Amino acid sequence: MKFFIDTANLNDIQEAYDMGVLDGVTTNPSLMAKEGIFGHDNVMAHYKKICEIVDGDISAEVIATEFNEIVREGEALADLHPNIVVKVPMIKEGIKAIRYFSDKGIKTNCTLVFSAGQALLAAKAGATYVSPFVGRLDDVSTNGLSLIEQIVQIYDNYGYQTEVLAASVRHVMHLVQCAEIGADVVTCPLSVITGLLKHPLTDSGLATFLADHAKGNK
Ligand code: E4P
Repeated sequence: MKFFIDTANLNDIQEAYDMGVLDGVTTNPSLMAKEGIFGHDNVMAHYKKICEIVDGDISAEVIATEFNEIVREGEALADLHPNIVVKVPMIKEGIKAIRYFSDKGIKTNCTLVFSAGQALLAAKAGATYVSPFVGRLDDVSTNGLSLIEQIVQIYDNYGYQTEVLAASVRHVMHLVQCAEIGADVVTCPLSVITGLLKHPLTDSGLATFLADHAKGNK
């Protein structure tokens, strides 16, 4: 399973990359705004900086919602770096654009997916990744992980190449359960990746090993 970090924070991206376990990055307009990145030139420059840190797929989201504009914006993003994946919302114009990008060999990530039918449509259009939002479904009392399970099953039935990118992953158990289900990728904040390190028996065990070692070295 690939690990993507879901942030536009360069320090968090660097920290995850330095751990040697990071395969890519996802961003969205809200995450860019959180880092105070506004305006076309600043946004483009920020994506370039991310591409310089991580050698892996970097999702950059279009703002446009009309086909020609999505294509124009997406092509400009794709021109920035070969690792850019154009992130396109799950709307009719977006699906048309995903088909266009796919035919041109430009990688895409279909975002804001909340149902199996939407995921089927994204795969039919040739999306590289589909992003079902696990946490946001949980937020409205709907089982987000069940949707991942459904999509993995559907793609498996027909051999779709679109990768299931579990998004809006909020905690360690989301990530572990996505791995059990067979999601191809998870994207999550740094805290979820570092959360995987934690176990109290590891901490107490290490403390004992170090204390015992120190006894013999007095
Ligand atoms: C998907 O790519 C989104 O950037 C993200 O995972 C949304 O997560 P959130 O629901 O925690 O904002």
